[in-house]
Amino acid sequence: MAAFDLARFRHLLRTRSLGQTCHYAPVLDSTNSSVRVLGQQGSPEGSMVLAEAQTAGRGQAGKTWISPPGRNLYVSVLLRPPIAPAQAPLISLLAAVAVVDTLRQEGASCGIKWPNDVLIDGRKVAGILTELETYRDTVRFVVVGIGLNVNMPRAALDRELGMIAPTATSLQAALARVLDREAVLASLMASLEHWYETYRAAGVAPLHEAWEARSLMRGRRVRASTPEASWQGTAEGISPSGQLLLRQDTGETLALTSAEVRFIHDPA
Ligand code: BTN
Repeated sequence: MAAFDLARFRHLLRTRSLGQTCHYAPVLDSTNSSVRVLGQQGSPEGSMVLAEAQTAGRGQAGKTWISPPGRNLYVSVLLRPPIAPAQAPLISLLAAVAVVDTLRQEGASCGIKWPNDVLIDGRKVAGILTELETYRDTVRFVVVGIGLNVNMPRAALDRELGMIAPTATSLQAALARVLDREAVLASLMASLEHWYETYRAAGVAPLHEAWEARSLMRGRRVRASTPEASWQGTAEGISPSGQLLLRQDTGETLALTSAEVRFIHDPA
């Protein structure tokens, strides 16, 4: 397992801002926490923190993101979009689109499970956790955290993630080759910057279209649950603000802002 080569990453990076200010640490509690501090200290947009391992990696819904060293990418980026807090889910959708584009460039056949899990063959290869710092009704900054399983062979996935994430996969497991982590991260930053600039310049429409084109949801039977309720129906897509549109069996369509979604596998 080779350590991440920061100098090589910098050499490969072709962005205007994302990742140009870049901090690397062998171990951090959470790269999202580090970028939050950078945001509070006034670091420029695009500042990035990468850790070789995390001791308290955070996932969605208060879950832990298991972050063993030397194999994967744990990265967070600081953005300062001039948006209202209600628009922040779009930043997560944008990140999911960027991850899919990066993985497809590597040859992986992947797609998005709402809102922003990236799956290969039904197994999760990447997760995104977007956190906000707000002031009154404005967003001071957004931290986009991405965890991408890169060079974990199947045996390591089973051994290190099996108990917590039995359906996880990695690029190596899916593509049967070892990937160049520095090149994958440079390409991820370029893709993230492309979609962020597109969103800033052209608004939500191209992003909405790009998300739908990469989505695994449309027409799928799903169960969506929150701590309070659960619903079953057919996913129709997302609204322009990123809500999941779920047509219930009653015919009524719900727009869900947040929920945990599972595919229902109809018996053959
Ligand atoms: C998910 O549950 O799907 C989201 C996982 C997000 C994990 C990444 S790893 C880098 C960044 N730092 C964290 O603590 N979490 C995110």
